[in-house]
This record gives sequence, structure tokens and C-alpha cells, in this order.
Amino acid sequence: MLKKRIAILTGGGDCPGLNAAIRAIVKTAITDYEYEVFGVYDGYYGLIERQMRNLLFSDVSNILPLGGTILGTSNKVNPFKYWRGGNGDVIDCSDDVVAYLNEMNIYALFCIGGDGTLTIANQLQKKFPNIIGIPKTIDNDLMATDLTFGFDTACSFVTDALDRLHSTAQSHHRVMVVEVMGRYAGWIALEGGVAGGGDIILIPEIPFKWEAVYDAVLTRVKKGKRFSIVVVSEGAHPDGEDYTVNKTIADSPDPIRLGGIGKRVADEIEQATGHESRVTVLGHLQRGGSPSFFDRILATQYGVAAVRLAAEDGFGNMVALRNGEIVPVPLGEAIHSLKLVAKNHPILLAAKSVGTSFGV
Ligand code: F6P
Repeated sequence: MLKKRIAILTGGGDCPGLNAAIRAIVKTAITDYEYEVFGVYDGYYGLIERQMRNLLFSDVSNILPLGGTILGTSNKVNPFKYWRGGNGDVIDCSDDVVAYLNEMNIYALFCIGGDGTLTIANQLQKKFPNIIGIPKTIDNDLMATDLTFGFDTACSFVTDALDRLHSTAQSHHRVMVVEVMGRYAGWIALEGGVAGGGDIILIPEIPFKWEAVYDAVLTRVKKGKRFSIVVVSEGAHPDGEDYTVNKTIADSPDPIRLGGIGKRVADEIEQATGHESRVTVLGHLQRGGSPSFFDRILATQYGVAAVRLAAEDGFGNMVALRNGEIVPVPLGEAIHSLKLVAKNHPILLAAKSVGTSFGV
């Protein structure tokens, strides 16, 4: 009897835990369901350019602790708006993609990604219904799930960085500004910042006031604390001003890359308070390295649950973590809106109680 074939792709920015999820899908699919598994290269690019390969047990052996994705990824490729060739033409390749999946006899497609990848999965589902989504992103900004894998590892890295910066800040009596990722959501700054004892945390959800930031630094000095740690989310912005854009990527479905606000905050603090300031941009270090204990488990649970969902014909859903349980959520719901930090979020309130300033 012909075995059912499934395919996996990883799209968007990479994050720790992707390989753990791939491993979980491959092992569960082969062991529990005798499926044949294919890995698509470089996200949707591999579907457009017809590149996938058979994945065996041996391909996923020893990949659990590896960062990144063994399949590769892309965050510039959308089959519905594909820039092909040098003449800048944008074409809809979605029918070719579906034809390729059918030619390869793929029964189900597993799309592991964040907001962008899952939005495309939701569109593609109208032409190729047997799709299951799996959420990942260090930003943790997907509304439909309590957590995405990658986030815990990124926050642990931020915490470690803040611990290291504390000692040098203290020695030199400096203000150390640390810019972290997160796009339009402040989860990494908030949670990494609280865990690392940030004195001031600036997040996109709470536009800050310069005077309040200077005040927080000077108040610490008055209390004898001659150093401060300021955690700045890349999407943080002063009240009444827009985001700081680092670059715009012309041929990307998600063209804006934020960055640069950390340097500005450091410069302005030094200028206004007279206290020497430095900036550290943690950048892609937050996305690299081995997944944390928590992310390995979450990614494994997602991978296993996704295969079970496919076996039960639960297509058109994304697996999500809700109140400690892995549950299916319709893809359309999953991408509905970004999950932002609420002003009354318990972690934010706890941070305020221990004296953290949010620059307001
Ligand atoms: O979405 C994950 C993320 O790391 C964001 O936090 C960041 O803004 C963006 O991706 C960076 O994208 P790129 O890898 O394209 O520079």
C-alpha cells in the first residue's frame, strides 16, 4: 500500500526550537502513522522552486539541541506575490505550488512559522486544504497561543546579557542601554527585562516620555545607584513619534526592519543627564543557539500534536498552547491580530511594584 506523504516547511525568521519541532513531526509521523515525510527547503521558496527531500529518522537524529532549522527558511518569499527574475515582475505562483504538492503526492503540509508564514498558510489553505500550522517566533506576538517556542530561549539570552552588563555598568557608573528584538510587541523587553532586573523598560505598547526616562536615571543616582540598566524594545518610541526603522527590504512581504532606538535613547540620556551611556544591540544573537529546556518541550509537543491533528483530519488549524494544553485553533483566528502587552499585564504590574520605570 502507498504510504501517505506529508511535507514540512519552516518560514520566516528562524528561532531556537524549529529543529525540535521538525524532529517531533518526523518521528511521530513515521512511528505512529507510517507516513513518508518530506522537508521543503527554505520555506515557501522550496515550494515555488520545487525543492524538497525525503526526511528519514537518521535526518533528525541529534538535531534536538540545534538552533536554526535544518530545512532552511526565507522571509522574503510569498507564493501569492513572488518577485521572479530581474524585471521586477510580481506574480501569483500559488497554483504552481499546489500543482507541485499534488505531483509530489503530498497529503498534508505542515507550515511552521510566525505571523507572515501562517498568513500565507491560511491563504494557501483555500487551494490546498490539508494544512496544519505550528507557531514559532521569538517575539511571542501570536494572539491565538499563550506561547510560541523561541521566546523562552531569547528571553534567557537577554537575561544573561543583562546580568553581564550589570557588572560593567556598576564598575563604570554608567547607563547601559540594551536594545532587544520583538517587532511591534514588547514581550522580550518586558520578560527578559524583568528577569534581568532592568531599571527602565521601554516597550512599543507604552510610548515613553523623555523626561520620565531622565527622571528615572536621576532618581536612581539620588538614591546612590550610580548605574542604570535600560532595556529598549526595537519597537519602542517616544510619545507622539513613530518607530525607528533600520532598513526597508524592497521585495519583502514584510519590508520594515526596526532598529536604532537603543542608540538614540543612550545618546539622549547622556546628553540630558550628563551620565555616561553605552548601547548594546543584542540583535540576532537572540535568535541563535540551542533551544532552552522549555522551548524543546513546547516545540516537541507542538510537532506531535500537529501530526495527530492531521491524522484526525483537523486541517486548517494551528496547534496552540492555551492554559497548559495544546489545542487546535483555526488558522484564520491565529493570524487575526498581534498579541501585544496589555497595560495591566501581571508581569508589567509586578515590574512596576519592584520599581521598574516604563518611561511614563
Ligand atoms: O520576528 C522575529 C524577528 O527576529 C524580530 O524580532 C525582528 O524584528 C526581525 O525578526 C528581524 O528580521 P531579520 O532577520 O529579517 O533581520
